[in-house]
Amino acid sequence: MRKTRLAVFASGSGSNYEAIAEACRDGRLDAEVVLLVCDKPGAKVLERAKRYGTESFAFTPKDYESREAYETVLATMLDERGVDYVCLAGYMRIVGKVLLERYEQRIVNIHPSLLPSFKGAHAIQDAVEYGVKIFGATTHFVDETLDGGRIIDQGAIVYEGNDIEELTNLIHAIEHKLYVKTINKLINKKF
Ligand code: GAR
Repeated sequence: MRKTRLAVFASGSGSNYEAIAEACRDGRLDAEVVLLVCDKPGAKVLERAKRYGTESFAFTPKDYESREAYETVLATMLDERGVDYVCLAGYMRIVGKVLLERYEQRIVNIHPSLLPSFKGAHAIQDAVEYGVKIFGATTHFVDETLDGGRIIDQGAIVYEGNDIEELTNLIHAIEHKLYVKTINKLINKKF
């Protein structure tokens, strides 16, 4: 039977990409990552993609006239590869209407907070500064707003220490399991 075809979009280290690729490899996900899209040429995620044999496409948004222009290129690449779902994994950009319309309800994101609290690029730091004690991660469908859209799954931990690095590692560990759980829901249409 045809495996579910995923594209992962990332901007940085790519530990979530790797968690997904590893789960595809070891059979926890009946899926394959057919494309890794990265808006930061040189990002570490590109090395990880090479190690897993995933085709990658790195681009510089500034080289295009507009978001619509580069998303049109990306949409064509996704279509050509028969992508079923797009997984944003540390893709630090708003998704525009070209992709949202073409892949309606088929683009998901992961974020290191219990949404709708602490949206944005510094969620963990912001939550610590606010005095939060229950941290976590959220997967959600993507809409046109920053870290917005209907929630699919959440995972949480109580943390009362003050070591941001330790906390970040704990949250990343939650994310890696959570994303696999969420993609399984997408594959089985149970969301
Ligand atoms: C992850 O913690 C992800 O939730 C976050 O970026 C990190 C990427 O890590 N995304 C956001 O903050 C989206 N607003 P990774 O490159 O190691 O997967």
